[in-house]
Amino acid sequence: MNNAVRHFLTLTDFTPVELHAVIGRAIQLKDMWKRREAHEPLHLRTLAMIFEKSSTRTRVSFEAGMTQLGGHSMFLSPNDTQLGRGEPIEDSARVISRMVDVVMIRTFEQAKVELFAANSRVPVINALTDKFHPCQLLADMMTWMEQRGLPNGKTVAWIGDGNNMCHSWMNAAKLFGFHLNVACPEGYDPDQDVVNATEGCVTFFRDPSAAVEGVEVVVTDTWASMGQEAEKKEREKAFAGYQVTTEMMALAAKDALFMHCLPAYRGLEVSAEVMDGPQSVVWDEAENRLHAQKALLEVLVCGFPEGMPEA
Ligand code: CP
Ligand code: NVA
Repeated sequence: MNNAVRHFLTLTDFTPVELHAVIGRAIQLKDMWKRREAHEPLHLRTLAMIFEKSSTRTRVSFEAGMTQLGGHSMFLSPNDTQLGRGEPIEDSARVISRMVDVVMIRTFEQAKVELFAANSRVPVINALTDKFHPCQLLADMMTWMEQRGLPNGKTVAWIGDGNNMCHSWMNAAKLFGFHLNVACPEGYDPDQDVVNATEGCVTFFRDPSAAVEGVEVVVTDTWASMGQEAEKKEREKAFAGYQVTTEMMALAAKDALFMHCLPAYRGLEVSAEVMDGPQSVVWDEAENRLHAQKALLEVLVCGFPEGMPEA
């Protein structure tokens, strides 16, 4: 176990001050990149990327991000490494972390990223588990702040599955000081430990129309996450009435944003009209994965700037 190394396994691994610092830095790095200003603090550094699930945004943003920061990234699939043949996570962590500077993992169990981190000499990033998707929230909070300023005291509605994205939005509500209305069908509620940890910051509804009333942001996600493909039909029945539609958006604040981590399924969790409409900021969210993760990689590998205020 190495306690000195900082990991990013859930949003709660960082203090609110640190999260704001990462997002502020991401906005700076975005501007620098748009001007093609070279910034290569990760020269000769390597990111190992372990993917046990599919990905478009996460893989492309981490790979491009490492290139832009002057470093290198390495895609590791369980099919081609000994991870897929049963080499223990602890042993894999010991070996990989002696050769690279930072590791990113996308897998099923949160316990797996925790076990890897506990045996790693270098920072470990959760790039999505069944429980959390903290990197997505960095990009989502950055997008919201770029569009509307600080989130304090505002309200967001989460409509749909009480899944990994919902859990990370619940953590974000507590850490960034906004309120979250969660509307899930019965049987698809978020996990009780996350509910307990975010008490006072989240209100639960069954009726999605009541949850979106007057809110500043409406968020949803797929009804069948990776690993739940066999439940797709059953879930479509359970989630009927939870599609984010133009009628639903009309109940939110006039200039409310629509957010989705993507990939999105038009006609299921969101109508095509909302997804492709003027309130949707989904492409900015996707792009901001790049900038937010560059800031994350920089602080994890190089440390937070000196003199940053304590939380
Ligand atoms: N939002 C997100 O993580 O997308 P990918 O699954 O494509 O990486
Ligand atoms: N909840 C989705 C998010 C995909 C980025 C999943 O876990 O598949």
